[in-house]
Amino acid sequence: MTDLDQPSIHEIDTSKPHPARMYDFYLQGKDYYEVDKEAAAKVESVFPTAKTCARANRLFMHRATRWLAAEAGVRQFLDIGTGIPTRPNLHQVAQEAAPESHVVYVDNDPIVLRHAEALMRSSPEGRTAYIQADVREPKTIIASEQLHQTIDLTRPVALSLNALLHFVPDEFRPYETVQYLLDALPSGSYLVLSHCTQDFAPEMWEGVIDVYHRGGIPAQVRSRDDVLRFFDGLEFVDPGLAVPHRWRPDGEPLDGVTDAAVSIYAGVARKP
Ligand SMILES: C[S@@+](CC[C@H](N)C(=O)[O-])C[C@H]1O[C@@H](n2cnc3c(N)ncnc32)[C@H](O)[C@@H]1O
Repeated sequence: MTDLDQPSIHEIDTSKPHPARMYDFYLQGKDYYEVDKEAAAKVESVFPTAKTCARANRLFMHRATRWLAAEAGVRQFLDIGTGIPTRPNLHQVAQEAAPESHVVYVDNDPIVLRHAEALMRSSPEGRTAYIQADVREPKTIIASEQLHQTIDLTRPVALSLNALLHFVPDEFRPYETVQYLLDALPSGSYLVLSHCTQDFAPEMWEGVIDVYHRGGIPAQVRSRDDVLRFFDGLEFVDPGLAVPHRWRPDGEPLDGVTDAAVSIYAGVARKP
């Protein structure tokens, strides 16, 4: 493929798998292509609980967002690595608790852009916006006009980076990126983050990462200490960094859940 043949950032590339569409497959959506299904099936052959992992992650997003809106009083949300819309989306969870919530979504995948309309159906009292951007270029996100039209960066914001940073290997400087984003937010803001880990099943995760790399997707799982570094300088809310099914569980049933089956760390922390 020459550069001229490369799909533009707005075109959907069905020649190789994409993380957003593979995740949609794990969540049993309908917005993936054959190439994604094949790659996801290869992941499931080494990680048979990939669907449990995706579901546990999604349920964490629901509970963390609900807690932030209902208990912590947050009314502004910046969600980067949003994924293909899957009800309930983050703004629906936040606006159920606080209808006046404003939510900015960001993803770099054109398939998410294609479905962004579903993310824009805000409550009448609230507001949502969608920005197509790459988290590896955080300045573009923070400088975006749509962001400033939707959220006020002088008031607390919950920044959510759920199941995103394992697609940002160290060579792309993810720690500096998170720091840059947090520096743009005032005291009283929160970081919500979930991240796949090899800690509970190291050999299995070598196999999973190999499938992503073969599909041309940059990926890197991280240990507990490596994930904790993203929260440097922040104050964890209980229970701290945990496997998602133990982060303030609300009794919603999840089949086959063990730490290795989920293999994610998740946490919410406040910027002092
Ligand atoms: C596994 S999905 C997670 C979706 C959602 N955050 C959740 O937790 O349910 C990861 C998302 O991150 C997006 N993504 C991956 N790399 C990205 C990047 N460099 N910049 C922005 N989004 C990215 C993918 O397109 C995909 O939609």
